[in-house]
Amino acid sequence: MANLNPHLEKLSSYYFFKDIDQRTGALREKDPQAILFNLGIGDITRPLAPHLLSALCTASQEMGDRKTFRGYGPSQGYEFLREAILYGDYHRLGISIDEIFVSNGAKCDLANIQELFAPDSRIGICDPAYPVFIDTNVMAGRTLSWSEEKGGYDGIVTVPCLEENGFLPYPPSIPCDLIYLCSPNNPTGVAFTRQVLRLWIDYALEHNCIILYDGAYEAYITSEDCPRSIYEMEGAREVAIEIRSFSKSAGFTGLRCSYSIIPKNLRATLAGKEISVHSLWRRRQDMKFGGVPYPIQKCAAAMYSPEGQVEVKETIQTYQERARFLYNGLKSMGFAVYGGIDAPYVWCKTPAGLSSWEYFDQLLEQAHIICIPGRGFGKMGEGFVRFSAFADPQMLAESLLRIKQMA
Ligand SMILES: Cc1ncc(COP(=O)(O)O)c(C=O)c1O
Repeated sequence: MANLNPHLEKLSSYYFFKDIDQRTGALREKDPQAILFNLGIGDITRPLAPHLLSALCTASQEMGDRKTFRGYGPSQGYEFLREAILYGDYHRLGISIDEIFVSNGAKCDLANIQELFAPDSRIGICDPAYPVFIDTNVMAGRTLSWSEEKGGYDGIVTVPCLEENGFLPYPPSIPCDLIYLCSPNNPTGVAFTRQVLRLWIDYALEHNCIILYDGAYEAYITSEDCPRSIYEMEGAREVAIEIRSFSKSAGFTGLRCSYSIIPKNLRATLAGKEISVHSLWRRRQDMKFGGVPYPIQKCAAAMYSPEGQVEVKETIQTYQERARFLYNGLKSMGFAVYGGIDAPYVWCKTPAGLSSWEYFDQLLEQAHIICIPGRGFGKMGEGFVRFSAFADPQMLAESLLRIKQMA
C-alpha cells in the first residue's frame, strides 16, 4: 500500500475551521429559526462588474468560432493582460517592472513558491497571518508537529504582530531565508507604512533573505504613508516577490486570476551557484501550470479599461465604506478595533478579556453572528476576532445592533 505524506497530519488549521462549522451547525440544530449573520467569511458578495462580464462573454464566444478560438495559452499569461497589469498597476505609478507571471490565484502562488526553496530553509511568518503561509510549509515538512502547549509549530521563526506596535511586524534578530509579509494583513487589516517596510527591505538586503509580499488586498489601501507596492521602495527589486490577486479587487474569487512579480535580479543559490529565481519559477510554471483560461484573462484585462476602472473602483469603495461603518460602529461601543481603514477586515479585541473562542461562542449563541476567532490565525491572534465587511449593509447594521444589545 502507498505511504502518504506524514506532514499532512500535522495541519492544525483544518481542524480549526471545521470547529467553526461544527459550532455553527450545532446552533442551527438547536435553534432552526435563528437568522445567522456570517461576518466571518472573506468572500466577496457583489457580482462581476458589467464591463468585465461583457469581456468574459465576448471572449467565451470567440472560443466557439474556428477563426478566433484559442488552445493552450502561454504559461506566463497572454501579452494583452501582462501589458495591462504592468501599465495599470506599475508603470503608471512610475515603477519599472516587467517580470510578471499571470496565475490562477494568489493562494496557489503563495502555496507553490516555497517549492523552489531548499527543505531546510529558515522561514519567517508573521503571527497572526493568513494560514496558507504556514500550512504549505508544514505540508512540505519544514516544521515539527503542532504543539498545543506552545500554540504553534517548532521550526518556523514567528514574527509577532502586536497590539502595542499597531499590529505592524518588525524584523526578527534571527536571519531568515524567506519571509512572508502581507500588506494589508489578513486578519489584522493593517498595512505597512513606508518606515516599517524600509526596515524589512534593509533586513532582507543584509541577510540575503527573500520577501514574499502578499498584496491580495492592495486595492483597499487608502493611507498616504502606506505603499501600494513593495517596489515603490528602493532595493526591493533585489529581495522581493510581489503576489497580487483580482479576487478582492475585481470580484474574481470564483473566476480565479492573479499575478506574481519575480524580478530578474532576484537571486538564490543552488549547489553553490547564484541562480535567477525568475527563470526557475518560469521553468516550474512551464512544467506544472497550464495557464489561466483565455476568457478569464480577457475579463481581467477589462478591469484596466477606463469603464472597467470606474466600475471596479466603485465596488471597492462600497466595501471600504462598509468596513468603516463596521469599524466606527464597534469603536463607538467601546471596542478596541484595528484595520478597517486600508482593508475589508476589522480586527476587534474581545471584551472583558474573553478568549477568542469564548467570544465567538457568545456572538454565535446570543447574537447569531459568525466571526473568525483570532486564534485561528496564530497564537498572537488570541483575544481578538476578525469581522469581514463584505456582508451587505443591512446585515452589518443589524449585526451592530445585536452586538450592542449583548453588552
Ligand atoms: C492574505 C490573502 N492572500 C491571498 C488570498 C487568496 O487570494 P486568491 O483568491 O487570489 O487565491 C487571500 C484570500 O482570502 C488572502 O486573504
